[in-house]
Amino acid sequence: MQTEILSLADPEAERRAEALLRDGDLVALPTETVYGLAADSGSGAAVAKIFEAKGRPRFNPLICHVDGIAMAERIAVFDDLAHHLAKRFWPGPLTLVLPAAADTPVHPLAMAGLATVAVRMPQGVAARLAGRLGRPIVAPSANPSGRVTGTSAEAVARGLSGRIPLILDGGPSLVGVESTIVRPQDGRLVLLRAGGISRAELSAATGLAVDDPEDGAKIAAPGALASHYAPEGRLRLDASAIEPGEFVIAFGTDRPDGLENAAAIVNLSPRGDLREAAANLFAALSAFDSARVERIAVAPIPRSGLGEAINDRLKRAAAPR
Ligand code: TXA
Ligand code: MG
Repeated sequence: MQTEILSLADPEAERRAEALLRDGDLVALPTETVYGLAADSGSGAAVAKIFEAKGRPRFNPLICHVDGIAMAERIAVFDDLAHHLAKRFWPGPLTLVLPAAADTPVHPLAMAGLATVAVRMPQGVAARLAGRLGRPIVAPSANPSGRVTGTSAEAVARGLSGRIPLILDGGPSLVGVESTIVRPQDGRLVLLRAGGISRAELSAATGLAVDDPEDGAKIAAPGALASHYAPEGRLRLDASAIEPGEFVIAFGTDRPDGLENAAAIVNLSPRGDLREAAANLFAALSAFDSARVERIAVAPIPRSGLGEAINDRLKRAAAPR
């Protein structure tokens, strides 16, 4: 794939970015903190491309970028404290983790199946593109997994050239570090990631102490929890034969032995496409998230590309709890 770099000064740049996002493609773009790798938050296939391009071995929940509080309220439930923080710091480098709205347009893969959502209003083109799309855009930092975060179009190109169609060049990032992530909850503030807004600024704006997570690792990195997002039933992985009465998560055209005895089957991608399987994963897990479903067998899923992240998440769902 050829990667085009367009300056934001080019009047065509934003229109081109909007067209790509609408088509489910990725666009790297500047925010005031760092460059982000953006996709339409409503498209599971587009979100799956983010994880593919970054080469992330697991599905971390992503930040939804909005064009204002009205759009934020369509995806998240705000209390008074959350409102106060948004009014004070947006647009700017503050991300709020809030309960997800019931009828959110954000695809479950973008939230990694969590009941909370991370939302921020950035400055500039990222907010404008969310407005043009009429929906949030999700954007992790625009670097391959494990590499330094890109704060210029050149740095982004070094990491992602050939993997994405377009980089918008807005010059070096103003802030240069990622947004601060905070969880307002029951009149308290919990700091999940330090970033562009300091602890002191948060305290001064709210009169509250800013706490650390009680179990830092658990809350700060939800994707890393051992039994994260586990359905009620027991999961059996790499099942090549189905036992009578099992619920089945299948992949591709392979038919495990005994499939005719399954209680129900969800195929993550009948045509064997890992991107489609990633987009369908969390919906499949929640389809079987009922007390009635006691045993779930998961057919073997390839471990290449996005298969690594899919297998990682299934392993967590299967972990004893
Ligand atoms: O400045 C930024 O925030 C940049 C620019 C591009 O906006 N974005 C960014 O995204 O840093 P990313 O994906 O690299 O980091 C997002 C962080 C992850 O550590 C993730 O675990 C956390 O946000 N996160 C997302 N949703 C969460 C949730 N529901 N609960 C707790 N943490 C969450
Ligand atoms: Mg990052």
